[in-house]
Amino acid sequence: MDLQAIIDDITAELSPRLGEGNVADYIPELAKIDPKQFGIAITTVDGNTYQAGNAGTAFSVQSISKVFMLTLALGKAGESMWKRVGREPSGSAFNSIVQLEHENGIPRNPFINAGAIVVTDMVLAGHQPREAIGEFLRFIHYLANDDTISIDRRVAKSEQKTGFRNIALANFMRGFDNIKHPVEMVLGTYFHQCALSMNCVQLANAGLFLANRGTNPLTGFSVVSARRARRINALMLTCGHYDGSGEFAYRVGLPGKSGVGGGILAIAPGKASIAVWSPGLNEVGNSKLGSVALEVLAARTGWSVF
Ligand code: DON
Repeated sequence: MDLQAIIDDITAELSPRLGEGNVADYIPELAKIDPKQFGIAITTVDGNTYQAGNAGTAFSVQSISKVFMLTLALGKAGESMWKRVGREPSGSAFNSIVQLEHENGIPRNPFINAGAIVVTDMVLAGHQPREAIGEFLRFIHYLANDDTISIDRRVAKSEQKTGFRNIALANFMRGFDNIKHPVEMVLGTYFHQCALSMNCVQLANAGLFLANRGTNPLTGFSVVSARRARRINALMLTCGHYDGSGEFAYRVGLPGKSGVGGGILAIAPGKASIAVWSPGLNEVGNSKLGSVALEVLAARTGWSVF
């Protein structure tokens, strides 16, 4: 199978459609991004990297950071974390508050905003936000084997000024005692983790441990157990695209996690880690062309898990 030819073809086929969808404009810094961009990178478990389009352009990973923060939190709190956050798809928008009132302030899963804010509260564990962010960034450097990756402070500040719904979610959950630190500390950390800036190659490398039973085959670093990697993939498959998760599983058939910056990380277990990026989003906040690209890629490679 010629993976380079497959992604070159996909990139060429999508080029007339560049600019479809809408960039996230509720975070002012993200509204400035040129929507006519598309990149894709694949890193295989046997150590090869393939890239096409704007695969070397850094973008805001936003909610994809939730996969890495969850991995960190599981390392700290272990399975006890599931007392504070569930493992069910929400069927609601990523920033929805409705279920929290009836469900004791316990978010449905760690990938919706409410769940991710609880996960960040766990990782904070009594430390200062800058220490938690430092730990998170070092973890990303270790996963991707690349210490040039950074956080875009302008994006974090931009969201800090306009993140009223996240502020509401955090306060609401604090009212149920499911947030343990002052909300400003938790959200300061959360906004910075979301502002992580990576390109497709770096993101595919960072996700590779999930495709290889918890160990990064490029570095030999054992990140998590095979069982934990399988479980994180299960959550990505069922919850990684919010109220678009069923559609993504139906069309693509791979564990995946999207972000409002237009990135998607998808995992083909035993085969490869794939990162796509195109800033225009569909109605439920997932990259429009990124989802199409992954659908075509899964069809041409036969990598669907089903
Ligand atoms: O909290 C927010 O709203 C953003 N920082 C992240 C949301 C996001 O990426 C949802 N993804 N599709």
